[in-house]
Amino acid sequence: MFFAPGGVKIGMMSDMVHLVGISGSLRKESYNTKLLHQLSTLLPNDTAFEILSIASLPLYNADLDIPASEERPASVKHFREVLAKADGVVLVSPEYNYSIPGGLKNAIDWASRGDDAPLLRKPVALMGATLGHWGTVRMQQAFLPVFQYLDMKPVHKPEVLVAQANTKFDEKGNLNDEATKEILRKKLLALREMIIKTR
Ligand SMILES: Cc1cc2nc3c(=O)[nH]c(=O)nc-3n(C[C@H](O)[C@H](O)[C@H](O)COP(=O)(O)O)c2cc1C
Repeated sequence: MFFAPGGVKIGMMSDMVHLVGISGSLRKESYNTKLLHQLSTLLPNDTAFEILSIASLPLYNADLDIPASEERPASVKHFREVLAKADGVVLVSPEYNYSIPGGLKNAIDWASRGDDAPLLRKPVALMGATLGHWGTVRMQQAFLPVFQYLDMKPVHKPEVLVAQANTKFDEKGNLNDEATKEILRKKLLALREMIIKTR
């Protein structure tokens, strides 16, 4: 850290935060993927954002999840490597059958085993968009035991529940709801603050 005379904090390289964002939906016109893409416009200062796809991950198979990372499937290796370098993760997901979509849970499982499991103790911000009125609240509840098992550091507040997502984007896929933008900014800032605090 660098401090100006009088202890005032000035811009510093060590405050750079690198976030990785993942969508829980593989659908081309996914509202969650649209939301994920909007986040880069709402980030706090000194925050880099990289989007990581789960589309090419195979179904989890412990026989292929070999601790010596060179032996895992290539898409899994890449997925784990990108997550390992991140200071924090942003998960943007729909709710499927009141729970976590299978594809996203599969991705989490691939990043959860071994001493070098990249999600272990990782700060995370979870949010979601759905067409219904509950805005993924049950999916977010379903994630709590996963975070607990992996000793992750979820930023619980503010909660981001984007209900009736079909009314919140324009025809170009841009978020057009100011209240949603504001709460997204607050969530990302809270994640950044947690990362800095727990470094
Ligand atoms: C398999 C499946 C299960 C769903 N289950 C729920 C649900 O439990 N609660 C809900 O509000 N919406 C549910 N939906 C509707 C989703 O909210 C809606 O399809 C949403 O647009 C999916 O997110 P996406 O646009 O990012 O793909 C479900 C959709 C699918 C395809």
